[in-house]
Amino acid sequence: MLQENVADLSKYVEPDRVRREVYTDAQIYELEMQRIHEKVWIYCGHESQVPQPGDYYTVQIGRQPMVMVRGKDRKVHVLYNRCPHRGNMICGDRHGSAGEFFRCSYHAWTFHHDGKLRSIPMMDSGYQGTRWGRDNPDCNMKPAARVAAYRGFVFASLVADGPDLVEFLGRSKIAFDDICDRSPEGEVEVVPNCFRVVQRSNWKIFLENQLDALHPSVTHQSTGRAAREVEIEIEKRTGHAPLSYHMLSAFATVTIDKWDAFQTLNYPYGHCILTGYMGLRPKDPDTLEYERVLAKAYGEKRKEEILSTNIHHVLIYPGLSVQSPLQQLRAVRPLGVDKTLTEIWHFRLKGAPEPIYRRALAYYNLVNSPSTMINADDLENFWKCHSGLASNGGDWVSFHRHYGRDLEKGGVVETGPNMGTSEAPMRNQMKAWAQYMTAEK
Ligand code: FES
Ligand SMILES: [Fe+2]
Repeated sequence: MLQENVADLSKYVEPDRVRREVYTDAQIYELEMQRIHEKVWIYCGHESQVPQPGDYYTVQIGRQPMVMVRGKDRKVHVLYNRCPHRGNMICGDRHGSAGEFFRCSYHAWTFHHDGKLRSIPMMDSGYQGTRWGRDNPDCNMKPAARVAAYRGFVFASLVADGPDLVEFLGRSKIAFDDICDRSPEGEVEVVPNCFRVVQRSNWKIFLENQLDALHPSVTHQSTGRAAREVEIEIEKRTGHAPLSYHMLSAFATVTIDKWDAFQTLNYPYGHCILTGYMGLRPKDPDTLEYERVLAKAYGEKRKEEILSTNIHHVLIYPGLSVQSPLQQLRAVRPLGVDKTLTEIWHFRLKGAPEPIYRRALAYYNLVNSPSTMINADDLENFWKCHSGLASNGGDWVSFHRHYGRDLEKGGVVETGPNMGTSEAPMRNQMKAWAQYMTAEK
């Protein structure tokens, strides 16, 4: 058994450091897929990706090809993308409409949107007297063990046991509340496609970077500086530079010591929050108009509550990084021990003025898309980290920064004052990793 080949996994993770094999060993990767990704709640997509019955989107959960589909009953189902006949994938396209039912391209078996067998060509004559028949559940496309949504965001778990979605999300569900509450209608809809980036590095390297408040003013300094220079020039000329320059220049103007002023909150199951740093309430006419619309929908007091939610990043371990004030998220899909896909999705606040969408879109394009220097600089670090970890240059990864100085309150670790760059989020993720990996089977 694979499990027995891997020496005691708890030896790989200490509270303040982790062995490099955790990132580079192919057997450990296979175990991670079994014990983490193919068990816990994994983000599939947003309900608005499949608005009509028959609409589907394919999604990878761990090593499993799945398909998220809207049924005639309007329910969203998540099924294994596999024909029960000879195993053909039912949906070869990334997304589309199945129409009235799924039809396998190999021998034309058909299935309802909930995966139940609909028809087999010449079934009566072909299968009489065999143990294959309509009553046999093996004739259906297999559904995910559990499917649940929170405010339109659909998750699936491939095992029947475990915490329900709301319990699993815990305080990290603020990511979805913050995204949706910023809409005057309390809802968002997906912008109907995403960027896809394949990184030559282990999936955990990407997640550890998300709340790494130390790196922006180092890794992104050159981009931030260049943006700042142009911003100053425009300010001189016109008195006011568009907010999009600030999105990039902040990487240079928020210097390394200032990042320590932010806070991280670290929750059970490896979820973490980085508090906000970026002023998103300038006094320009577009923002003021948006605030008026929001106040009309919710009242002044609630509007203030919504707009003062101070979040930059919410990490929902092990597969999602959400930037709720800017309505975007990145879903992490491991493809191999040294290969990771990220899907970068963007949402529109229903009922909000168009310029507010444009502003968030600028951040999406300037900071998170594959065409920005910000992302390119991160990707280079990820690849270089993975390559270094694969070498014999050392055995351990260090997460010692501010170790032992975080405040723990009821299972939540808060970084103390002036400890925003603490490696508490990385320690928290690895703590969850160790719990999942060494749990009783
Ligand atoms: S493999 Fe699907 S119908 Fe034969
Ligand atoms: Fe970065």
